Amino acid sequence: MVLLDGKKVSNDIKNEIKVEVDKMKANNEKVPHLAAVIVGDDGASLTYVGSKVRACERVGFESTMVRLPHTTSEIELLHKIQELNTNDAIDGFIIQLPLPPQINTQKVLMAVDPSKDVDGFHPENFGRMALDMSTFIPATPFGILELLERYDVDTKGKHTVVIGRSHIVGRPMSILMSRKGWPGNSTVTLTHSNTKNITQIISQADIVISALGVPNFLKAEMVRDDAVVIDVGITRVDDESAPKGYRIVGDVDFENVSKKASFITPVPGGVGPMTIAMLLKNTLLAREQRAG
Ligand code: GUN
Repeated sequence: MVLLDGKKVSNDIKNEIKVEVDKMKANNEKVPHLAAVIVGDDGASLTYVGSKVRACERVGFESTMVRLPHTTSEIELLHKIQELNTNDAIDGFIIQLPLPPQINTQKVLMAVDPSKDVDGFHPENFGRMALDMSTFIPATPFGILELLERYDVDTKGKHTVVIGRSHIVGRPMSILMSRKGWPGNSTVTLTHSNTKNITQIISQADIVISALGVPNFLKAEMVRDDAVVIDVGITRVDDESAPKGYRIVGDVDFENVSKKASFITPVPGGVGPMTIAMLLKNTLLAREQRAG
């Protein structure tokens, strides 16, 4: 079994990005500037955005965190987005999800200038991804592709089963794994809450990508010998003995599944850190495109 070490690979990527930023600085060029908008005070969202800001510092990017109260109206958020769209100092920005119920998420994501949409959530960028055109690929699926590539995992002709059809992970992942090229060229089954015989389908998978958010959903008896197992789950589970009062738990019963898998991601330290590294990569790309 080979551990797909997202912590290590994400550090490698951050070091590579830092080299590029140092070159920009040496040439007196503008460094990439990422902004993150967060509406409300959801603890998990604040943690993620905090990690994104710290990662920016680590590679030498500029960053701005825009905090808006949970009572923010859709119009107010749309105004903030217009400001960020037209602010020449900002190369890319993200709207941290989920948004409070009074705000229409799709409307908000469509207001982001596609050239600054480093999350790749705008329909134009999502469409470009589906059509194999160059674009910002959503950070979590992008991070999974990068892990598969850096560990030389064979995906061609394999049966990839994606669990979960979210716009952020499952749906784009299913498209990317079916694309021509590598990593890709898989035969993909996208499963979800209405899938019949899901355990039977999973048992036929060469590659399982679980983005369900149900702790320890994937058990050893469900996966084939030598399967490649990617765990996107990051559920907070109360644990009084843990320093923060909670633990982060994946979708996969790692202890037992790892005995059968050929490659597997741990939680934490697998897909999570890769997501942040790929957001930085998209922001670097955004800066380079704006510099022309
Ligand atoms: N919420 C959960 N994952 C993500 C992500 O990748 N980007 C944003 N903006 N919000 C999220």
